[in-house]
Amino acid sequence: MTHTVTLIPGDGIGPEITAATVRILEATGVKFEWERQEAGADAYEKYHEYLPQDLIDSFERTHVALKGPITTPIGGGFSSINVALRKRFELYANFRPIRNLPHIPTRYPDVDLIIIRENTEGLYSGIEHEVVPGVVESLKIITEKASTRIARFAFEYARKNQRKRIHCIHKANIMKLSDGLFLRCTRNISHEYPEITYGEHIVDNTCMQLVTNPYQYDMLVLENFYGDIISDLCAAFVGGLGVVPGANFGDGRAIFEAVHGSAPDIAGRGIANPTALLRSGILMLRHLGESDAAWRIRNAIEKVYRDKTKRTRDVGGTATTSQFADAIIEAMEAQSESAQAEAVIRQT
Ligand code: NAI
Repeated sequence: MTHTVTLIPGDGIGPEITAATVRILEATGVKFEWERQEAGADAYEKYHEYLPQDLIDSFERTHVALKGPITTPIGGGFSSINVALRKRFELYANFRPIRNLPHIPTRYPDVDLIIIRENTEGLYSGIEHEVVPGVVESLKIITEKASTRIARFAFEYARKNQRKRIHCIHKANIMKLSDGLFLRCTRNISHEYPEITYGEHIVDNTCMQLVTNPYQYDMLVLENFYGDIISDLCAAFVGGLGVVPGANFGDGRAIFEAVHGSAPDIAGRGIANPTALLRSGILMLRHLGESDAAWRIRNAIEKVYRDKTKRTRDVGGTATTSQFADAIIEAMEAQSESAQAEAVIRQT
């Protein structure tokens, strides 16, 4: 079976890590038809649209996308295309698993933490205006519908995947109405899942608790803004932004993308780490029912990470983006050769 996938390489390091990831995904033997689409400033130059209609049509057809990061101008300019895509397609749940990779020395080994971030509203609703010169307002939108939906997603995930605890992270002591509603909706849903221990922590305390002892948490459910910040903080537990994957899920549709951004400081130098996007690709393979290929890439990553020279610089190695991809492909080929040899031995 061939999987048709919308491919959005993005900009900055996006095209480099996407090329490496696509090469590895194809080396699994799974068949893909990629519908390559542009978005952001590059798309605007060519089509005078930041989010071209072709991309929208493609995703409406495929319902699945692999996406590189897209730069958003700071303090002005166009609104985030990354946020726009999530909102436009109602990809309401941002799923970010924080797990260590072998052989990367970090302060905390064996971290296994799942972040579930609300993806469609909160402070990222992008509704801002100037009231009078010198006074601006940014509106934080929280709805019962979206809060209940993300809480349901988190608890369902926990039930299906034998997770033990969920903490709702909030600032309802200050934002009594908005965070209060988010908290209340999550608490209501928690009553339907008595087997999952439910807790509530205020976001500033959570930051301190996380850096002191991340093991006390199993899953976090947060509104959009806190989810964004806490994700980057937690990335530091497992080797940094170069290794943390993500997925944006809506009903029957998903966009797979790394937690990190377009990393303009290292773009175009061939040194970016494609692991985060590759691990997002593993999530995509599972979503497409290709678990065997997902396992093969996962095993290859574990093997390659043992050898410092095959890792990229951000995780203590010396390899370039494409050397890392070559090493993963070689490791996968070695796995299938040894599997074939074992099969021959079993037959004789
Ligand atoms: P960033 O995540 O792009 O970079 C932060 C730091 O992590 C930089 O030092 C960078 O070199 C490093 N880094 C990130 N990914 C890496 C990788 N794969 N390999 C090695 N090092 C890596 O965050 P920053 O600089 O705050 O944002 C840059 C741009 O990206 C902004 O325009 C921002 O809006 C956008 N952005 C886009 C996202 C998306 O497309 N989903 C998510 C986050 C930011």
